[in-house]
Amino acid sequence: MWWREGAVYQVYPRSFADASGDGIGDLEGLRARLEYLAWLGVDAIWLSPIFPSPMADFGYDVADFTDVDPLFGGLDAFDALLADAHARGLRVLLDWVPNHTSDRHPWFLESRAARDSSKRNWYRWRDGTPDRRPNNWPAAFGGGPAWTWDEATEQWYLHTFLPEQPDLNWDEPEVVAAMYDVLRFWLDRGVDGFRADVVHLIGKDPEMPDIPAEPVAGGHLTVVGAHDYEGTHELLRGVRALLDAYPGQRMMVGEVNLTETALIAPYLGSDDELHLAFDFASLGVPWEAAAWRRRVADVEDIMGPRWPTWVFSNHDQPRIRTRLGGSEARARAAALLLLTLRGTPFLYAGEELGLEDAVVPPERVIDPGGRDGCRAPLPWTAAPPHGWPVEPWLPWPPEPGSRNVEAQRADPGSMLHLVRAILRARRASPALHAGSLALLDAPGEVLAFERAAERETRRTWINFGADEAALPAGWTAEVRTDGRDGRALAPDAGALLRPA
Ligand code: NOJ
Repeated sequence: MWWREGAVYQVYPRSFADASGDGIGDLEGLRARLEYLAWLGVDAIWLSPIFPSPMADFGYDVADFTDVDPLFGGLDAFDALLADAHARGLRVLLDWVPNHTSDRHPWFLESRAARDSSKRNWYRWRDGTPDRRPNNWPAAFGGGPAWTWDEATEQWYLHTFLPEQPDLNWDEPEVVAAMYDVLRFWLDRGVDGFRADVVHLIGKDPEMPDIPAEPVAGGHLTVVGAHDYEGTHELLRGVRALLDAYPGQRMMVGEVNLTETALIAPYLGSDDELHLAFDFASLGVPWEAAAWRRRVADVEDIMGPRWPTWVFSNHDQPRIRTRLGGSEARARAAALLLLTLRGTPFLYAGEELGLEDAVVPPERVIDPGGRDGCRAPLPWTAAPPHGWPVEPWLPWPPEPGSRNVEAQRADPGSMLHLVRAILRARRASPALHAGSLALLDAPGEVLAFERAAERETRRTWINFGADEAALPAGWTAEVRTDGRDGRALAPDAGALLRPA
């Protein structure tokens, strides 16, 4: 299956490439850069939301699920993009946002209009008084309550995120049917699948119990019971059946934003729920061999035969290089790790260039969730404005004069060429894209594992230490991140090995 073997590249459309000249990336801009993505060697692209939206949450507040915002170019631009991507062998995933809509979505406007509206039950309305919320759930971004009082109809509505993002009520069969229609609309148009936004939140305990005081401190999205409700699984089985009825290996990778792999794995069901589930537990792992060894062992133990995913960066989190203290050596070694572990890797646009988060001055902060830094625009060329027609909507990431596509494409020693070489090795090797994984004994600061398929083995060695580490006898480096020859692996470096 392509979605098990391939590598997926996340495009944050506003920050990728701008053709219209308004400083915000768009689909024509992306289409013009498909050549780059095919050259890089990824198998699929996932586009963060491109639908009409008031942009309170930069597209995750959808006002129409079956159209494309004029900002990004409209449906025709999407059809052209999809056709060109397919012609280049690139699959395309859209971002389906099932938990909530914009408060400007016609469904919500109608729902809000009156208590007896035919769409009242499409959202999660509750009785109460203005001074008494239905429960203690906090909203994301700012930590205010997850409930907003509607003066006109004198009820509360639930919004797990911003007040501009009311939660849909998946207990209402009409909502399920409407959201199925959304999926069919895009599947019929030819998309290869979806990334499903906070999909673990669609089922909710009808009792809506208070969250116990303690776990709230750990982040409301991870609270078992309130946001990991068993009813979600049945809903996901329905979605899976819809997708699997289509030809062509359509798929869904779900954002299951729970803290532990053991909580996430059940969302794959018995291969009858999500095809893949994001596992963000790796985002907090420190740069230490022992910590990574534990992490990989955990994923193997918990996932068993199920297929993991690996995510080191995305549009919600500080970039991996930023988290690693800015070191290019570490960012390179991390790229080797990401792309050679067992599972489907998700590469966030710019990770291949070793981008760091932009430093955003207070007057330019615009995201309510404080995530502007990792959403900085992609520099295409060395000279300002770096391949954009005008200065883009957010500040540049650090050192755009060298960390850009043009400069790194011209330099065979660049991080970009390294990532391309790893992707090539991965595509060519069944051990890497489909094989099993076994951790190996290795000297103290080295993480070593073997990937094996029927007639092939590969080994990954990552040296987390401050001293050189000797590579094992009997193995030759196919790719190494330190650019060296010989048997000594540099500190903060990795090597992909094959039998000599
Ligand atoms: C997760 C998305 O990745 C994030 O960007 C968004 O703000 C929330 N879900 C709400 O849709």
